[in-house]
Amino acid sequence: MSRRPLIAANWKMHKTVREAVDYAGELVPRVRDVTDVDIVLAPPFPALPALVDALADLAAAGRIAVASQNVHAEPHGAFTGEVSPPILQASGVTLAIIGHSERRRLFGETDSGVNAKTRAAAAAGLTPIVCVGETLEEREADRTFDVLDRQIAQGLAGLPPARAGGAVVAYEPVWAIGTGRVASPDQANAAHRRIRGRLATLFGDAAGGACRIIYGGSVKPGNAAALMAQPHVDGALVGGASLDPVAFAEIVAASRPRAQPS
Ligand code: PGA
Repeated sequence: MSRRPLIAANWKMHKTVREAVDYAGELVPRVRDVTDVDIVLAPPFPALPALVDALADLAAAGRIAVASQNVHAEPHGAFTGEVSPPILQASGVTLAIIGHSERRRLFGETDSGVNAKTRAAAAAGLTPIVCVGETLEEREADRTFDVLDRQIAQGLAGLPPARAGGAVVAYEPVWAIGTGRVASPDQANAAHRRIRGRLATLFGDAAGGACRIIYGGSVKPGNAAALMAQPHVDGALVGGASLDPVAFAEIVAASRPRAQPS
């Protein structure tokens, strides 16, 4: 099955509203002709509405979308400091990153918490980008696949198969995030193949075949094409290199189906 590439920028805690709008002005002319890659920008919360406005033309054409970096699992209520999927959806946000390893490590997110957020996001019509990945310790102990199996089974539990097929899974080995140490194309593909097999077992072959599995961890313009050439790598979640619109546009260009080495 051919899956449309998806390249997402995770800005983490970087960029003011003005910087986000300036970035959109730099990025749009560079990706205006890219019709074969889904582009996603995930800024900090305050920049979401401004970015939705700044990207409205390309968003209307279904080519670029805006994601939150987190959600709360409840739709509304007394949860000071939190933002819910329906509130985000009403602001023009269409995807949500959930369970990033920084959220798990620094903010105590668990697989069951990731699951609650994933189901809430999907119920509100947001596409969840569910992040999974092993630590260096887990890889060295040969536990990578066990960790991925658990994170997938628990993180996506209870999703209807069509929602699981429409979700995005980001494989982000923790040892590759922000370290400059990228997974090899073979390592990424093996992990993605495992995740796809697990999804097929849990949700059926159609969902397993449809779900886009993107790679994250030190993706740069120079390594994107080799990663994207792997059959199970459907895109990238880009942190550091996404902060520069020129570098991010280069990663998008390197991910176009025809740009891949044969
Ligand atoms: P990085 O971050 O590209 O800076 O390694 C990726 C991520 O955390 O999503």
